[in-house]
Formats: sequence, structure tokens, C-alpha cells
Amino acid sequence: MVLSAAGIRFPIWAQAGTSVAGAARLLLGVDYYPDQTPEALWEEDSRMMAEVGFTNVRIAEFAWALMEPAEGKFDFAWLRRAVEILHKHNISVILGTPSAAPPPWLMVRYPDVVEVNAQGERLHPGGRRFTCPTNQVYRRLSLSIANAMAREFADTTGVIGWQIDNELTLSSSQRCYCNFCQAGFQAWLRSKYGSLDNLNKSWGTVFWSQTYTDFSQIPVPLPSGGDPNPGLALDYDRYQSYANVSFQEEQLVMLRKTCPHHFVTTNNVGLPLDTIDLRSLYEKLDFVAFDNYPGFFEMLLHQEANGPISPDTIPANIALGHDFARSIKGGKPFMIMEEQSGKAGQRTFSPQPEKGQVRLWTHQAVAHGAMGVNYFRWDTATFGAEEYWHGILNHDRSKSPGYVEIKQAVGELKALGPEVLNSNYAADAALVFDYDCSWAVKIQPGHHALSYMAQVTSWYGAISASHTGIDVIAPGADLAPYKIVFAPVVYVLSEAQASKIKSFVQGGGMFVTNFRLGVKTESSQIVRTPLPGPLRDVMGVTVADYVPIYSAKQGVKFSSAFAGPDGQCGIWADILQPSGAEVLGSYTSGEHAGEAAITMNSFGKGKAVYIGADLDAGSLSRVLRTLSAMSGVKQPFDVPPGVELTLRKSGDKQWIFLLNHTSVAQTVSIPKPLTDLLTKEAYSGTIELRGYGVRVLS
Ligand code: GAL
Repeated sequence: MVLSAAGIRFPIWAQAGTSVAGAARLLLGVDYYPDQTPEALWEEDSRMMAEVGFTNVRIAEFAWALMEPAEGKFDFAWLRRAVEILHKHNISVILGTPSAAPPPWLMVRYPDVVEVNAQGERLHPGGRRFTCPTNQVYRRLSLSIANAMAREFADTTGVIGWQIDNELTLSSSQRCYCNFCQAGFQAWLRSKYGSLDNLNKSWGTVFWSQTYTDFSQIPVPLPSGGDPNPGLALDYDRYQSYANVSFQEEQLVMLRKTCPHHFVTTNNVGLPLDTIDLRSLYEKLDFVAFDNYPGFFEMLLHQEANGPISPDTIPANIALGHDFARSIKGGKPFMIMEEQSGKAGQRTFSPQPEKGQVRLWTHQAVAHGAMGVNYFRWDTATFGAEEYWHGILNHDRSKSPGYVEIKQAVGELKALGPEVLNSNYAADAALVFDYDCSWAVKIQPGHHALSYMAQVTSWYGAISASHTGIDVIAPGADLAPYKIVFAPVVYVLSEAQASKIKSFVQGGGMFVTNFRLGVKTESSQIVRTPLPGPLRDVMGVTVADYVPIYSAKQGVKFSSAFAGPDGQCGIWADILQPSGAEVLGSYTSGEHAGEAAITMNSFGKGKAVYIGADLDAGSLSRVLRTLSAMSGVKQPFDVPPGVELTLRKSGDKQWIFLLNHTSVAQTVSIPKPLTDLLTKEAYSGTIELRGYGVRVLS
């Protein structure tokens, strides 16, 4: 029953064919820390959770020291008592394996397991996530505690699934540069390249006398007086992602064997963290689970005055995370393992969510394809590094401002039921997110202000304003399902990706890209052909020159297709020389005045658009939305600024989510009579949304 309720189609744990004892109907729960709570309160906690309507908790992911107080001596009695009390109140349990925070005895006995940061400094115990992903001793000990847990709880009524570790790579030092990682990197390179000759050629190690004659000579990119070889640096980022994924897979293999009836996933924060390739991380897991803290974007907004975040882009930043989470497993519903429920922070607090926002964030996740939501956290810790992180109960166990909203949202999601939570999300447009491009641009941004992530985020913001649905896809993904594919800063372009783009455009799709297209091969060497390398014929242009922009500002004039005021070019200008493409925008000043800044080429049955200029936000939004419309993508109906519209579908049924991200009431004109499934009220003509209000219409 839990399988269909959770909307997971034929995962391994479903095929086992055994029903999950004590299973929750839905995954609507909370992150709970019985290890940090006096046992006398567990019963009351469980009863209160049941009153909210919660179906499950996630527990124990930071309780290694209690579960293994000394090496090889396990104590699960307390955890079993907690599971039993929760189960008595019909609360099922997702168990977390605890490898994100090793106990002190381990660190004293095995000090070599600590991570070394990018400056070559060893981290220290005392926080969390300070261990090396390659270290065999740490892997063995992590597997040993996870294995002991799995054996203990494999057949325990009430336990339904697992979260492996916690937010792999998310710490103050996101990659490790220790000797164990160096050896692991060398072994990984040996299997990737086969021979040193191949590796030396791929990286171009003849530069600065770096020709390697033995794999053991290959360094990791620690400070070295000058920048590392770009090919080595890119491969190191790939290796670190691989090492973390394989660290997880060791636990996964064990859990599959020991707990075949349980689901297995892990949590991560998704974009903008890019240190682990989430497509690989979730490949063998049952579903994507991720942590959603909108308050962080608000904090970033104040910390990075000139960054990509402005108050009106926060809802789109959150939506990008959801769309990415859904797209990682090709559209399968995902779960929010941690949803912000109050003020959040460690040393400082994020803003208090405004009244209605916690409920709105819950529905926004579902609107984008979530099938379950767990809130972080039940009570608020009165000790430890996260005393400021507000949960559903305050420090004094009174109910937090989020409590009522969460209870309402949980009730609403239950009433919407499994069919809505498991429905599909419809997208005619796709945005490419490529880890290689993100890593390679960080290694050599070309302009100090060029950030791949910022480009992706601002493109997503511009496109999402069309409310037409966006999948966030891998560079190698099948493009055929889409009418239009957006791909900013395709700095690293493989032949395989180029040929996919070519067939997509040939077949009638619209491909939209911008500057720094096709500059590098997968080995991070610059192509020897004129830019844009393998896509010159598709784009119908040659890049005559590329210009990083500092003080000499550059303007852009648009053709009638994008009618509007002249735009500003920010940090980069590719000067385009059309060889068949139509010019839709040109530079207005300086040496390149009159030369092409934006072009559109007809290729086969489709179109390829090159935006050579780094456009200001307003112009970018107008250009991308115009192109969306040209490609035939349609918005179901118009909504006012600040209101988001998404569609989920199942067969011939569809559900329209309207989400008001502003604090003021909004009126939306609707094209046909619709019923709000949350209130059962029928509307025609117009519908009102209160500040931070939500409607689910059908
Ligand atoms: C998440 C993490 C949790 C907790 C929470 C609040 O990123 O998974 O363990 O730390 O943030 O800080």
C-alpha cells in the first residue's frame, strides 16, 4: 500500500512483494531527534505528531556515538524503544545511517580519517562532515555501524526506509585533498585513461613540464605557486564527486541485501551546491529526497549584494531546486526530507517565515512534483550548534508559528491524496544543467564575475516567469520531448552532446544558448576550430571575437522580434559573424558597434539562437520569454507577477497549482470554471488568492 501511496513505480523494495509492516499511507512527516530528547517526552512527542497528522519521522542520522559507544559495541535498545513508541502512534520511521558525524573515540583511534581542505589544512573533529570520502578505514567503520543498524531493524515493525548519511559534501570544506584521496584519484585516473600517454595528451601536461611517467606522480590541485592544469583540476572535481557517490554505494549495497523491503534514499540540498553530481548520487536510490530551506536564499540575498538573488527571484530559486530534484530521476516524484518550518540558522537566524509561507513552500514543492514532505525539525534544540534552528515546537515546547500551518498543509495533502501526489509534471521546455560546465567555469571563469550557477539561475528565473513548466536536464538527456531547450554557458561541449543538439534542431526543436559556447572539450582543452566549435553549422555563426567586459560598457539594440528598449551587456560579449543566421540584436557602442550580438539560425526544421551578449535581467527575460512563445510553448493562462502557476497531470486529469509568493492578495482571471480542491469552492471568471495563498484547482 505504501508503494502506490508514495507513488514509486517498481523500485527494488516494491518488487520484494512483502508489505511494509506498519507502513504510513503517505510520507508526510518530521525530522525527529529522540537521541536529543529526554525519554520521558517521547510518548508525548509521538502523540502530538499524530495530532498534526504526521505519518513518519526520520531519526538517528546523527546518533552514532549513542549507537556505538565504543568500537564494535552497539546499543540500539534506546532506538528500538523510540521506534516502538512512535509506531504505537502510527508513526513510521525512516532511519538515517550516521556517517556524517563520527564519534570522538573513532577520531582518537583513527585520526587519519579527517579531511584535508583545498588549502592543504587538516580539518579537526568537533563539527560534522569533516571526514575523507576515500579513506578505507572510515568507509569500513561507516559500513559497520550502518550494517549493525540494518540487521537490528530489518524486520522491525514501523521501520519503512533509510536515508544514507546526510548531505554528502555539504560542509565548510566540500572536497578532500588528503593523501588517501590522492591515491584514490590516481587509481581512478588509471582506469579512466588506461595509459599515461593518453592522460598526458588529454591534459596537455607538456605545458610547464608536467609530463607524468608514473601514476604515483600525479598531484591533487593543492596550492602550488601557479594554477593547476585545467584538465587535472576538472578531473579532480569529477573524482571527488565519484568518491562520495561510491562511499554511499557501499552502504546501499549492504542495505539492499539486509533490508530488501525498505526504501533507500539520501538527502541533499540540490542546487546551488554543485560538489556532488546528484544524477550519479541518486541513480541507484529509490527516489530523490532533498532539503529545502528558502530562508537561506533570503540570507544570501543580504550577504551577496550583487549576486543573482534579489527578493523577487527567491520563489524561482526554490522552484529551480524542485524542478532539478524531479528531473534527476526523469520526472519521478521526489520527497522533501527537510522542509524549513521556522527561523533557521546556526550563528544567526534567517528571517521568520511570514504567515502563510511555510504552507506555501509545502504546496510549492508538491506543485513541482513532490510526493512527500518531512519538516525540519520537531522540537528546537536547547543545546548544540543548531540551537537557533527553530522546529515545530519552540525551546519551551510551545507550538511555533509554523505549527498551525504545517497541520493545515498536512491535512490538505492528505485530502488531495495519492493520485495528486503521484501525478506527473508537464514540461515542454528544458534547461540544461551540466556539472562539467559548472566545475570548469569555476576553475577558469574567464571573467571574475562569471558564474555558471548564476547564469543557470537567472535563465531559470527568466523562463519560469512563463509558467510553462521546465525540466532541468543533463547534457546527455533526450531532447525529443521538448519544444525548446535552453542551455546557458555550454563551456564544455562533448561531441555526443553536440550531435544530440544537432538532431534536436534538425527535427524541429528550438535550441537557445549564449556566450562561451563549445569552448572546451571534455578534457578541458580549448578546441582548435573556430568557435562555437562543433555547433558552428547548427548556430549558423562564427564567433569573430570574444570580449570580457570591465569598464567599457556595451549596449545591445534589438530587432523587432524582441522589440523593447536597448539592453545592457554585463560582463561578456561574443561578437558573432553570421554565416546564414538572422541577426536579432547588435552591439551599439565601441569597436564592435553594429556587429551581431544575437542571432537565430534555421537549421533543418528547427531554430538555433545564440545570445552572444550577457544581457541585463530585463532584456534577458523579454528575449527568453519571446523565444518560448515562438517555440509554441503555451502558458495555460495569465497570472499576475509574483503568482506562480504549475500543472500536474495523470491521464486525462490535471491539477492547476496557483501560488501567491507575495504578501498581498492577488486576483487571477480563469478561462473556465474551476474548483479549489482545498476548500471545495467553485469559481468562474476570477479567483482571489490571499497573501501567500495557495489554490489547487481542477
Ligand atoms: C540541514 C541538515 C540538518 C540540519 C539542518 C539545519 O542542511 O541536513 O542536519 O543541520 O540543515 O541546519
